[in-house]
Formats: sequence, C-alpha cells, structure tokens
Amino acid sequence: MVRNLFNNVPQRKKSLITYLNPNSILSDQYRTIITNLQFASIEQSYRSLLITSPGYGEGKTTTVANLAVSLALQGEKVLLIDGDLRKPSIHDSFKLENNIGLTNVLIGNAVLSEAVHQTEIGRLAVLTSGSIPHNPSELIASQAMRDLMSNMQKQYDYILFDCPPVLNAVDTKILANECDGVVLVVNNGKTDKEKALEANKILTAARASLLGIVLNEFK
Ligand SMILES: Nc1ncnc2c1ncn2[C@@H]1O[C@H](COP(=O)(O)OP(=O)(O)OP(=O)(O)O)[C@@H](O)[C@H]1O
Ligand SMILES: [Mg+2]
Repeated sequence: MVRNLFNNVPQRKKSLITYLNPNSILSDQYRTIITNLQFASIEQSYRSLLITSPGYGEGKTTTVANLAVSLALQGEKVLLIDGDLRKPSIHDSFKLENNIGLTNVLIGNAVLSEAVHQTEIGRLAVLTSGSIPHNPSELIASQAMRDLMSNMQKQYDYILFDCPPVLNAVDTKILANECDGVVLVVNNGKTDKEKALEANKILTAARASLLGIVLNEFK
C-alpha cells in the first residue's frame, strides 16, 4: 500500500521519491512492496514484472518507476521498460531522450545495448518506448518481442514493464501473459470497484499471475 504523502511536495519531486528521498515513509512503503515480491519469489521466480491498472492516471508509471529504483538501490540489476507504446512517459520520469527505445529494437533499427540508458541509480537501466508505432499490439505480440524478452532475462535480475491500462489496451494482456507476474495498481480516489474486478477478470483470462495489488493515493 502506498500512502499519499505527496501533498506538500513540489510536482517535480513526486515521481521518483525513492531516489530523491529514500528515507521517506513513502520510500519505505515501496521497499515493503519489493520485500513482498521477493517473498513471493521464494517458491517461484518472479523476475519479469508488469505493473498495470484498470484505467488511466491511477499511478502505474509512478509505481513501476519507484519499484525499479527501490530494487536497484538494493543492488539488483534492473531493466525498466516503457511498454506503454500509446502514451509513453518513463522517459519524462527519468528525464531521458526518447529517440531510440523498445519499438526501434523490435523493428530491428537498433540493438538492445545501444537503446538502453544506464542511470546513476545503482545498476538501473531504462529502455524508453522509442517512436510511437501505429500498431502497438502487433509489436508487443511479435516474435521479436518474445526473443527480446528472453535476451533481457539473461542480462538482468529484474525486468519491469510500464504499460497502458489493462481495460484499454490489448497490449497489456499480451505482455501480462509473457511476464512472470503482474502487480495491479488501484487508486483510492479514481478506481471504481467494478473496474478493479473487471481488470482482475481480464488478467485471469490472460493467464497472468497476479502477485498483488498496490493501493495508491490511499488517504
Ligand atoms: N501516490 C501518489 N500521490 C500523489 N500523486 C500521485 C501518486 N501516484 C501518482 N501520482 C500522480 O498522479 C498522476 C498520474 O500518475 P501516473 O502517471 O503514475 O499514472 P499512470 O497510471 O501511469 O497514468 P497513465 O494511464 O496516463 O499512464 C501523476 O501526476 C503522478 O505524479
Ligand atoms: Mg503511465
């Protein structure tokens, strides 16, 4: 559960609180989520994770970025990928260029090692979305994506995906099926119960492994 402690914090400091203020209670909450994920991994390995939510603006990007930072600060080799090929924003969170990224690797215009940005945060690397394609779901469902997944899994301890809302884009269902586990973000003020249940149903139908729910902006 991530409580909303952002009220008096300037907007620019909100998104990467785990990096900007690792000693805050909020950062501690993200570490708790990581610990829970690590406990879940004892029996079965959950190394590729997808973070989604039922609808728009519920905190997917904020959550995945902070989970990636938390893992990296614990010494893990992490690749954070912007799998939201419709409305990408990970590059904004990390203030990165988005000229080359996931889509360019998938269509063969770049290789992974050229496309990833190494950050100053431990061994955290970021793969931004790249150019916005006209066929995001086809790219996500492609053999190139599956090949890239297995390539990335060999190189990193954890792969974390940001993605579009599960109720709005088929890409998310496809990616959820490819990943070891899914974390669903629900927003205290924005997500209605029916939508949360519908998201759960869709993820189950996609044979995704739902590891847990993050209650964001809990008041
Ligand atoms: N716990 C929180 N407290 C306060 N503000 C938050 C919190 N989580 C997210 N926000 C803010 O809410 C807005 C939407 O968050 P974010 O971009 O993470 O959502 P999203 O689900 O990725 O949105 P989209 O569906 O557009 O991709 C951002 O301005 C973000 O800074
Ligand atoms: Mg987002």
